[in-house]
Amino acid sequence: MAIAKAIIGGKDSSRATAKGKPRHFLDIKDFDTASLRRMLDWGKSYKAGGAPAGAKPLAGKTIALIFEKPSTRTRVSFEVAMRQMGGDVVILGQAESQLGRGETIADTARVLSRYVDAIMLRTVSEKHLMEMAEHASVPVINGLTDHGHPCQLMADLMTLEERKGPLAGKIVAWLGDGNNVAESWIHAAARFGFTLRLACPASCKPPESALAWARKEKADLQLGEDALAAARGADCLVTDTWLSMSSGNAPDLDREARLAALAPYRIDERVMAAAKPDAIFMHCLPANRDREVAAAVIDGPQSAVWDEAENRVHAQKGILHWCLAQG
Ligand code: CP
Repeated sequence: MAIAKAIIGGKDSSRATAKGKPRHFLDIKDFDTASLRRMLDWGKSYKAGGAPAGAKPLAGKTIALIFEKPSTRTRVSFEVAMRQMGGDVVILGQAESQLGRGETIADTARVLSRYVDAIMLRTVSEKHLMEMAEHASVPVINGLTDHGHPCQLMADLMTLEERKGPLAGKIVAWLGDGNNVAESWIHAAARFGFTLRLACPASCKPPESALAWARKEKADLQLGEDALAAARGADCLVTDTWLSMSSGNAPDLDREARLAALAPYRIDERVMAAAKPDAIFMHCLPANRDREVAAAVIDGPQSAVWDEAENRVHAQKGILHWCLAQG
């Protein structure tokens, strides 16, 4: 079997079973602080031009990038990160694969595990991610679900730390929709010991499950409905589109009702001025300058959004290193 695989160029799928469970990266909350710290530090090291495991630690390895939803940053940053680490990528959109015609996630996971060394999945549903992770024998990486965007958060944490120093004790204010990215910020606040103020309309609060998890983990979470109060004295203001690809927290709210409820949470110059004078603005992008953020803020001197977008590449190198290159 091993010889046949070598001849036909197949992948040795025994790696995962020989060493136990694959190293999935599914959610920030699955990891302790030390493990996340290591991934961030590897990402920083790659950014600085170093490579913890040699110049091309992923030479000979391939990742499948599967998209059930559109993407610019996640797709390009994963492809660039993988190639710069010496690896290769295969990109699958919903329409180009048999997933779009009803093949199960479980069967797809089993088959891809025979071809590639890791799978990144951007999916319409947390359930799909869990099914992929359960049936894959290679690491599965969460490229966004309706309940989280952990790769984005790793880039956001890297950016916040670069601009403002150690994360512990910082004040981050999330204004607007308590969506999937907000859920990942909740997980990060618990793991890295910063204060997270969430100012959201009652109809767009993060799900109770995320808030209950934060209470259990003793995260310093402050939930309210006053945008200016949340911004006051903060180190970082952060928001996301109001018409998210995920509306898991308010699936029944129609578009106009959602926009009306979120209108008071727009980050403009007045809200930015309430934060610390050296506060930064972050947004995972894509942004809408007519809605959640004023052009004067996102294009202004306190905006860190372009560093944040760049850091997707570096932070994901840290994640890929953890999944594929270490030990
Ligand atoms: N922030 C983010 O995930 O961007 P894309 O949707 O373009 O991947």
